Amino acid sequence: MLKIAVCVSGGGTNLQAIIDGIQNGTITNTQIVLVFSNNKNAYALERAAKAGIPVATASPKDYATRQEFNAAFLSIIQSAQPDLIVLAGCLVVIPEEMVRAYTNRMINIHPSLIPSFCGKGYYGLKVHEKVLERGVRVTGATVHFVDEGTDTGPIILQQPVMVRQDDTPEVLQKRVMEQAEWKIMPRAIDLIANGKVHVEGRRVIIDGYEVK
Ligand code: GRF
Repeated sequence: MLKIAVCVSGGGTNLQAIIDGIQNGTITNTQIVLVFSNNKNAYALERAAKAGIPVATASPKDYATRQEFNAAFLSIIQSAQPDLIVLAGCLVVIPEEMVRAYTNRMINIHPSLIPSFCGKGYYGLKVHEKVLERGVRVTGATVHFVDEGTDTGPIILQQPVMVRQDDTPEVLQKRVMEQAEWKIMPRAIDLIANGKVHVEGRRVIIDGYEVK
């Protein structure tokens, strides 16, 4: 059984997709042992509570220094003993020591086709604003392992989404979530939980990989 800790900051629709996936059997062999939020008011926490999942919160604002927050964050995660950390709309910067401690055991969802529209400053609605500004016809989402860089880790799954000419950032964000994020995040977790994902250098090899 793969034990996962899910880190969130906001609405938690990706968390919900994971909870639903475990309940309806599209994600197998997986248990959520903790939902962590840096934001005490995140609606994601209500979703976790409704599903009977343990929650924990800690905000950098509660600590005198960033180092103290980082230590607390790492110790909260470690005490849940997850096999995998899932960043699902987590807006807090992940401490370097946590990245090192969970090499190839921490994944993130990013709402674009990496390496486009990613890196510093590309988060949330800003990603979709830049996509529309640039006028690309195709965007999407990416699930990747987390390394020391911003959105630079090995890519696990990607799903393209068409951009419409009358899209607003909000409309496009919703379509990317529905058509890409809520599908590839549960699928990536299921693949990892069943031992099918192998990192080879910067590439990820998936046993029996099929284009869906
Ligand atoms: C998603 O678009 C995710 O890709 C981005 O933040 C958003 C989180 O949404 N990093 P939610 O909290 O899962 O609803």
